[in-house]
Formats: sequence, structure tokens, C-alpha cells
Amino acid sequence: MTILIAGASRGIGLALCHLLLQQQHRVLALSRNTSSLEALSKTYLGQLSFLSIDLGKMQSEAPRLQAWFKQQNIEQLDRVVYNAGYLVNKNFEIQSYLEIKNQININFTGAMLLLQQLRPYLKQGSHVVTISSMGGFQGSQKFPGLAVYSASKGALAVLSECLAQEWQEAGIYVNSLALGAVQTEMLQEAFPGYQAPLSAEEAAAFVADFCLRGHRFFNGKILPVSVSTP
Ligand SMILES: NC(=O)c1ccc[n+]([C@@H]2O[C@H](COP(=O)([O-])OP(=O)(O)OC[C@H]3O[C@@H](n4cnc5c(N)ncnc54)[C@H](OP(=O)(O)O)[C@@H]3O)[C@@H](O)[C@H]2O)c1
Repeated sequence: MTILIAGASRGIGLALCHLLLQQQHRVLALSRNTSSLEALSKTYLGQLSFLSIDLGKMQSEAPRLQAWFKQQNIEQLDRVVYNAGYLVNKNFEIQSYLEIKNQININFTGAMLLLQQLRPYLKQGSHVVTISSMGGFQGSQKFPGLAVYSASKGALAVLSECLAQEWQEAGIYVNSLALGAVQTEMLQEAFPGYQAPLSAEEAAAFVADFCLRGHRFFNGKILPVSVSTP
């Protein structure tokens, strides 16, 4: 299968690339930093292509993305995982406009604009998975400092529900996974010292399996993936 992973340079996204490459899939990886992907591509020659792109600036990046697809001879994307995320853990009233804008752009607007660009490549049986958060899951416990992050993840999840309906006739499946805490650089930076119950590799294994097979069981769903958050 041809699988695009947006947000692939570290954490869950990088582990996901690794797992899908091990399973012989062709992987297209997007993120700003690409050194980890460059290293991985040496092990999986011809199987991994990567593009340095800022998903927070999708409007201006779109032509470059389309040119890259042409260069890569992409005709169809069987799976898409929108995994890019950005979190600023800070009380709501002191978050700067830039901090708010960046979180909304990367967590939500970037996904919208990217999926518009990807739509021509999504065909019957394609499965889009967005990575949301338990903070953005309706009725979950909320945490001080995460209002903007959680709201942007909630918006991403609802977008996914809506696109599942809009693209149903075309046979395209869309689901959102609301992850609980996973031990990654993002979590470490936002909550120093906190120990999550899952490693990036464990979370990636679940996401890999879900993106490959989850559409047989779910469509238009926001699924909580958490053992620690009520
Ligand atoms: N870790 C957790 O506890 C947890 C819990 C719930 C949900 N999640 C979600 O799970 C996803 C992965 O989390 P993680 O912990 O693995 O995070 P991470 O280690 O910070 O990785 C985030 C990935 O997103 C990419 N990214 C961020 N901003 C980008 C931009 N402007 N353009 C392109 N790529 C961008 C990063 O690449 P570059 O920086 O190289 O661009 C990186 O590859 C995120 O969406 C996160 O919100 C995580």
C-alpha cells in the first residue's frame, strides 16, 4: 500500500513510518525536519520518500506538495495518517496570539488544507486517520494549560466525522483516534517528569494496525485510545 504520514520526523509518527516500512508498505513522510527520515530511507531504499514541509503553512506549501507528488508518480493514497501536532502547555489567558495560531494551524487548519490537496489521490477503500487527543474528546477530563491544544484537537476530530460523511459515496473512510498520554518528546517537553503508560512504539503499533484495518469496523468515528484518562 501507499501510505502518507503527516508529522513523521519523531515520536509516534517516526515509529509509525518504521513499522509500516517493516511491513513492506511504500511510505510518504511529511515534516519540517527530515534528518531522521533520511537515515531511515537508507535502510528502506526506494520504499520511503520524504518532503520537508511546514504543515502550519499549507496554503503557501500546496504547489510544492503537488509538484512532489508528480515527481514521485503518486496516483493513489491508500492510507493517510494526519499525525502532526503542536502543544503549548500554558494558562489560556497568557497564551500569545502566535502560540494560539501555531497550535490551530498545525493541529487543525493544516489537516484541512492538506486533506483538500490529497483528495484527488484518495480512492475507493482509502482510509484517512487523524490523530486527536483525549483532551479534545467530548466529556473527557480536561487539564489546565491545554485549552487551545484540546480545542484544536476537538476540531480535528469533528472535521474527521464530517469528512467521513462527505466522502462516503466515494468509498473513502475517515476516523479519528483520540490518544491518551504517550511517552514522546512532545509529552516530555510539555510535562517534564511525567511517565506515560505507553511508549511511542506501542502507540504506533496500534495506529499502524488501525490505519490498515480499522475502516472495516469504523467510519466517521472518534475513538478514545486511553487507559489512563477518564
Ligand atoms: N504524546 C502524547 O502524549 C500524545 C497524546 C495525545 C495525542 N498526541 C498526538 O499524537 C501526535 C504525535 O505526537 P508525538 O507525541 O509523537 O509528538 P512529537 O514527538 O512532537 O511529534 C510531532 C510530529 O509532528 C510534526 N510536526 C509538528 N509541527 C509540524 C509542522 N508545522 N509541519 C510539519 N510537521 C510538523 C513534527 O515534525 P517536525 O517538528 O519535524 O516538523 C513531528 O514529527 C500529535 O498529533 C499529538 O498531538 C500525543
